[in-house]
Amino acid sequence: PLLWVAVAVGAYLLGAIPFGLILTKLAGLGDIRAIGSGNIGATNVLRTGRKGLAAATLLLDGGKGAAAVLLARGLVDDDLAPLIAGVAAFLGHLYPVWLRFKGGKGVATALGLWLALAWPVGVSACGLWLLTAYLGRRSSLAALVAIGLTPLLAWGFTSPAAALAALPVSALVFWRHRENIRRLLAGTEPKIGKSQNKA
Ligand code: G3P
Repeated sequence: PLLWVAVAVGAYLLGAIPFGLILTKLAGLGDIRAIGSGNIGATNVLRTGRKGLAAATLLLDGGKGAAAVLLARGLVDDDLAPLIAGVAAFLGHLYPVWLRFKGGKGVATALGLWLALAWPVGVSACGLWLLTAYLGRRSSLAALVAIGLTPLLAWGFTSPAAALAALPVSALVFWRHRENIRRLLAGTEPKIGKSQNKA
């Protein structure tokens, strides 16, 4: 039980590292939360015009989801441990203790966790993200379609337990995108890479 708690807490703390915020601060761009949508994710980092920083944010935020899964797989001899660690990292990204629990929207971290946990689910979700982003030109729309379908993908490709875990993860991604959803419905959501005033 102690090992389980350590893995869950460790995964949460790993997920709670706000890479977008750290990288933009280090690059001298100020506080990313005062730019664009105010989010700490790669999509908003891209609004600074720094493509490399946005790519690094995407890889690191995705990487921490994947790393949590892989670490748990290596440390705990139980099939449920990687799933719990991945979800803990995802929750860390959404609700980081360092930022008074005001974190990101969880898209990259969720994709990373699925890639490591069940790669067919992760690859399909990334494919859906890319396809929807190509067709719709909005990062949030692509995220809602891709992450919204992960419970179905997990059901089809893996276990009922993974599908069941995918439901709250997807629900939280939708919850964190509620302002994006409002803008999408109003037709005011900016295209990827285009700036937007902080709401
Ligand atoms: O990953 C977050 C993305 O789906 C939306 O980001 O900054 O446009 O709210 P943003």
